[in-house]
Amino acid sequence: TAQARPGGNIEDAWQALRDEAAHCTRCDLYRHATQTVFGEGPVHARMMIVGEQPGDQEDLAGRPFVGPAGEVFDRALADARIDRDTVYVTNAVKHFKFESRGKRRIHSRPDAGEMQACRWWYEQERLLVKPEMTVAMGATAARQLLGKAVTITAMRGRAIELPESGLGWVTIHPSFLLRMPDKSRAEDAFAAFVEDLRGAAKALS
Ligand code: URA
Repeated sequence: TAQARPGGNIEDAWQALRDEAAHCTRCDLYRHATQTVFGEGPVHARMMIVGEQPGDQEDLAGRPFVGPAGEVFDRALADARIDRDTVYVTNAVKHFKFESRGKRRIHSRPDAGEMQACRWWYEQERLLVKPEMTVAMGATAARQLLGKAVTITAMRGRAIELPESGLGWVTIHPSFLLRMPDKSRAEDAFAAFVEDLRGAAKALS
């Protein structure tokens, strides 16, 4: 496993894990994606934030949350006064899953088998980072975090004791905000998202 050996360096263990994930064939998503988008951030981070899967731009850049959802995410983090450089940011599934429509690649949801296959990497990341607080953004991340399907509205905005130790926190996915047609509703939903992130950070201090 990725657990740092006694005397071993945790950053080296993380790098080795990342290198291994680059060649992952645990499910079929690697066949069409450009590359594995592994988590990033300090291995000693107290907070881990989990998304669903890389999008089009993340797939090309090889980094999580750098596209449109990433812009919303960055803005929310800034409003919540959380420095992204202090957080370990990753996804429940590490390859982009899409359908081609002409030249465009349209995001499609990872299925239970893909989530299960990718759970291995997620667990290895958790063994190394050992986050005190894990924020799951959206239903896919929440399912990976809690090991079962949950309703975001019923779970969001409060600390959840995780069986493996540490706290969990469920909130919406930033892409959800991008899909909201009503601007004033979207603003309210954004404010609630910021409030969730702030609450998670507060529960840490
Ligand atoms: N959406 C996600 O869930 N993760 C990303 O990295 C980008 C978009």
